[in-house]
Amino acid sequence: MTWKLWLLPMAFLLASSEASFDSCHFMLENEIPFTLVCKAEYSTDLKLNYRDIWLRADVPYWLWWRRRPGLELLISFYESPISPCENVSLSLNCLHCADSEEPGIHIRPESIHCFEFSFSYVRDLMEHCGLSPATKFDRVAILYARRVPNRDISSRAARTWSWILGH
Ligand SMILES: *[C@@H]1O[C@H](CO)[C@@H](O)[C@H](O)[C@H]1NC(C)=O
Repeated sequence: MTWKLWLLPMAFLLASSEASFDSCHFMLENEIPFTLVCKAEYSTDLKLNYRDIWLRADVPYWLWWRRRPGLELLISFYESPISPCENVSLSLNCLHCADSEEPGIHIRPESIHCFEFSFSYVRDLMEHCGLSPATKFDRVAILYARRVPNRDISSRAARTWSWILGH
């Protein structure tokens, strides 16, 4: 499939979405897949410290990254079609295992949050996953692959992110 085919619906999605999804443009440049680095389970400490309303203390998460040359992270919470992927690519708004015909997981603006800066929540997720806290990254996409807050609680979700970022 050509880049024009998937750029159009992604651009449409980007135009109609909430703030942190606007920073997901970097995901569009997908010639290099994200490669699995580590897997862990969300912990009680993380839950107590960050109060992320989308997560329970035992939810699994996976962390993939790519260097282009800045380090970009993809963190996905919950078991999902991309959980078994060693390499993850994006096409037609779907994240899927690279070099796979499986459709993968359709990303919706309310389920993915991207940031072009480092903050302690992500550093703690990396460290809890076994990575050095000194690892510097430039961009991060955080995907809630299963449980997505419904629209009624979007203001609560926004408060959660302002809590997490201000932490
Ligand atoms: C994933 O990507 C790496 C680096 O490009 C490659 O060496 C590896 O074979 C890939 N794994 C799979 C399962 O495609």
